[in-house]
Amino acid sequence: MRKPIIAGNWKMHKTVTESLNLVRQLTMELKDVKDADIVICPVFTALHAVGQAVDGSNIRLGAQNLFWEEQGAFTGEISALMLKDVHCEYVIIGHSERRNIFKETNEDVNRKIKAALQAGLLPIVCVGERLEERKSDKTFEVVHEQVHGALEDLSADDLESIIIAYEPVWAIGTGVNASPKQAQEVHAYIRKIIADNFGKNAADVLRIQYGGSVKAENIAELISQPDIDGALVGGASLKVELFAGIIKNALPENKDAE
Ligand code: PGA
Repeated sequence: MRKPIIAGNWKMHKTVTESLNLVRQLTMELKDVKDADIVICPVFTALHAVGQAVDGSNIRLGAQNLFWEEQGAFTGEISALMLKDVHCEYVIIGHSERRNIFKETNEDVNRKIKAALQAGLLPIVCVGERLEERKSDKTFEVVHEQVHGALEDLSADDLESIIIAYEPVWAIGTGVNASPKQAQEVHAYIRKIIADNFGKNAADVLRIQYGGSVKAENIAELISQPDIDGALVGGASLKVELFAGIIKNALPENKDAE
């Protein structure tokens, strides 16, 4: 069985002091959780301090973005090695806000994934359709293109270090989550793409998170779907009781469909 992985994407929220405050509460609240991987992704300026605060705990550190070059004249960017330097283990790549606001392409996403893997970071690769694409029945086409573009030239071995997050854009920050059935359908489709391109074993071990208005109230049903292995959580990851509630309801005893 795949171990659930719940990641909190803090987006552009919280100063260092506020981040430390939240993380101290989280480490206490979640200290007994063993059956799920927990990741938090604060803003760049808080990574170092938060990394020290989670050291020795069951909470892992992730970043929200990186640039593919190692160093150089790239004003405003940050490299995989710099993230490793502050003890990041994960990095979110290709979030829909990066794609839509900052115009990241599938090719950019692919280069970022390769840089992350090269440095030993575990990429959380986001894909998902916009509302107009869903309405015009393009969901599978869009997801297919994003998954293919993101994973171009990668090997089955690389896939062992990757997590995919299916995040329908219309569900992000809207309070309207994809129904468990809608999400499962796309997750199964993503797993099939992986099986067809990287083999059954790579598909079987790949963890696919759902993201988009995840809450304590909807996670149990989402994660009970056979191909949903966790969640990428935005808004609800900013409050200790909400994030802890999601993690507790995501633990394997809820995964009864397997
Ligand atoms: P949300 O965001 O949980 O606030 O909908 C999810 C995400 O953007 O990863």
